[in-house]
Amino acid sequence: MNPLLSRLNPYPFERLRALTRDIKPNPTLSPISLGIGEPKHATPALIHEALAAHLKGLAVYPATAGEPVLREACAGWIQRRYGVAVDAATQILPVNGSREALFALAQTVVDPTKARATVVCPNPFYQIYEGAALLAGAQTYFVNSDPARNFAPDWSAVPDSVWADTQLLYVCSPGNPTGAVMPLDEWKNLFALSDRFGFVIASDECYSEIYFRDEAPLGSLEAANRLGRTDFKNLVAFTSLSKRSNVPGMRSGFVAGDADLMKQFLLYRTYHGSAMSPTLQHASIAAWNDEAHVVDNREQYRRKFAQVTPVLAEVMNVALPDAGFYLWADISALIPGGDDIEFARGLLAQYNVAVLPGSLLAREAHGVNPGAGRIRLALVAEAAECLEAAHRIAAYARSLSSASSRGSPFIPHNA
Ligand SMILES: Cc1ncc(COP(=O)(O)O)c(C=O)c1O
Repeated sequence: MNPLLSRLNPYPFERLRALTRDIKPNPTLSPISLGIGEPKHATPALIHEALAAHLKGLAVYPATAGEPVLREACAGWIQRRYGVAVDAATQILPVNGSREALFALAQTVVDPTKARATVVCPNPFYQIYEGAALLAGAQTYFVNSDPARNFAPDWSAVPDSVWADTQLLYVCSPGNPTGAVMPLDEWKNLFALSDRFGFVIASDECYSEIYFRDEAPLGSLEAANRLGRTDFKNLVAFTSLSKRSNVPGMRSGFVAGDADLMKQFLLYRTYHGSAMSPTLQHASIAAWNDEAHVVDNREQYRRKFAQVTPVLAEVMNVALPDAGFYLWADISALIPGGDDIEFARGLLAQYNVAVLPGSLLAREAHGVNPGAGRIRLALVAEAAECLEAAHRIAAYARSLSSASSRGSPFIPHNA
């Protein structure tokens, strides 16, 4: 067996299942899950239709580089969305969802024969970054997000000695779970560090189309372009249809950036067998070429967040994020020790609502777990269900507050 497999940590949902196995959720209430970040809005008909119209694609082997017409559609979307010109022939590759590509890039980029091969990750973070780093034979270095700075990871706190060993940096903007969008100044700093130390930047942007501010989130290619880096040196951006077009089961996205990296990535992917089905390529073209369904999808999230956030803000420290479909709520004042796992257990037991404890999405680093005392709420279900969940969470939070104000000792639920 590959010994690196034993270095993998259990996935957060696996840990949550184990941590809640003994709980019997309140049977008088219907179950609601805000746990998994799986889009639930309807898939647009135009994608169904394109799939049905191209079923003959199932009869041919696809090229790993994808059909030129798909790469052109992706390049066209980048041009419209970010005002950036990319070369469809050399700077774009289709991927089977951003998850596999985020993983595969580490296998392509990391040289484990170099001493202390390091991959730098935000913390909390999308768990694939860590698994990708470990299986590539690298070590991880976590940079904690700072709630006082809109949850920005403090990249400037990373010592030069760590950057010197860094081969790959994952950036997640808009962030999961924080929703924070990284501003141009931060990109400028990271590009300067990448130039100085030679590491690759993997920019995970799969939430870029769900946002709550007027201005659409800045993309990494856009940032590079604005800073005159038109060759996107050492930069790869990851974009996905899963959230943008409500097709998490289609497994479709693309990467764009540095042509030299794309060449090596294509080589790796050819051997790994990561080609996208021609049928899905055609459905993807239809999706990238249509923006009306994306606007509509965003509006649905905006309405939902506008309804749900104030209900929760009355009882806990939570605010509308820049983007994404999560609320990253601070429950530390509601429960002794700010125990997010106990909060989630109690909520499930009493109100039959599943949420993800924040500490499971982060690692202890620099003396703290930056996810501790928080819960992640994925507002993916229809608005009425999310609102019902919010009212139940608020009732639970009020019950905890009144228990603590009466001075009664906190009794763990179903412990
Ligand atoms: C931050 C982040 N990146 C990437 C992904 C992967 O998405 P997909 O593989 O569907 O493109 C997810 C999925 O939840 C995510 O939250």
